[in-house]
Amino acid sequence: MTDIRTVGVIGAGQMGAGIAQVAAQAGYDVILSDIDLPRAEKGKAGIAKLLARAVEKEKMTQADADAALGRIEAVGDIAPLARAQLVIEAATEREDIKRTIFGNVGPLLAKDAILASNTSSIPITRLAQAAPDAARFVGVHFFNPVPVMGLIEVIRGLGTSPETVATIEAFAQRLGKVVVHAFDAPGFIVNRVLMPMLNEAIFALGEGVAGVVDIDTGIRLGLNHPMGPLTLADFVGLDTCLEICKVLLTSTGDPKYRPAPLLVKYVEAGWYGRKTGKGFYDYSGPEPVPTR
Ligand code: 3HC
Repeated sequence: MTDIRTVGVIGAGQMGAGIAQVAAQAGYDVILSDIDLPRAEKGKAGIAKLLARAVEKEKMTQADADAALGRIEAVGDIAPLARAQLVIEAATEREDIKRTIFGNVGPLLAKDAILASNTSSIPITRLAQAAPDAARFVGVHFFNPVPVMGLIEVIRGLGTSPETVATIEAFAQRLGKVVVHAFDAPGFIVNRVLMPMLNEAIFALGEGVAGVVDIDTGIRLGLNHPMGPLTLADFVGLDTCLEICKVLLTSTGDPKYRPAPLLVKYVEAGWYGRKTGKGFYDYSGPEPVPTR
């Protein structure tokens, strides 16, 4: 098993920053990298805010928060990732982008370092072809918000070694997360089930079955979900939802995964949900207001 002391995270967006935060809280040294330093520092500043809130709520001591933040190094290039024994890629959910990253980072890594992808749906076996060694390549799928959600989906590609899986299991355990194992298949476990549900809610909205609030309230109270599907789609990011639906559709060829026209339209309009301030709700005011 690889002895992990330093974790590299590629991408300082909501997932990457969340992963960096939980790894630092678990005592790992973390290198949080993005395409430039301001982006990486913005990710670290977001973590600082969440840690400060945890201290305010007396969920964490100031000393622990300071120590966790002190373990995170924000960097604007990939060279420092050479020091990590585990590198987790959490970049945009696009295969070309991820492949380019693996091609650039792979040659820097130590011989026994593990390269992992937080992809939500792209086949791990295929992505492994862009990595230096398929045996040390694995899917490590976190859930948003990472500090709150208790699950990590570990996805084995065809070439992923049992040692790599065992190393990730030990890492997840130290993070306090429960692991579920999936063999490489489109959408793995969670998004295979989640995305058709979110997409169906968007079809229902587009067909005029009900408005945004009734659909969300129906599922939230009728099925006891913490968020309605349209709120959750906005939370995940409509661009990400669309990319995952496309992966499910193209990799299975099954038309049941075709993205709802309204989802496509919103993404074309730049309505990505919370991150752009507008999706199925408008987030510009004090409370979200439905856009339909
Ligand atoms: N980061 C860190 N902590 C957060 C947070 C964030 N972004 N958002 C909320 N929290 C914390 C709060 O601080 C609070 O902590 P406390 O109990 O210690 O005080 C706790 O979570 C509960 O938050 P709130 O009281 O503000 O609000 P809720 O009770 O409504 O919970 C929620 C918020 C945890 C986000 C809840 O609505 C939820 O579980 N929603 C569903 C989330 C979900 O399904 N995520 C999976 C998405 S799919 C995915 O990620 C896969 C990808 O591939 C698409």
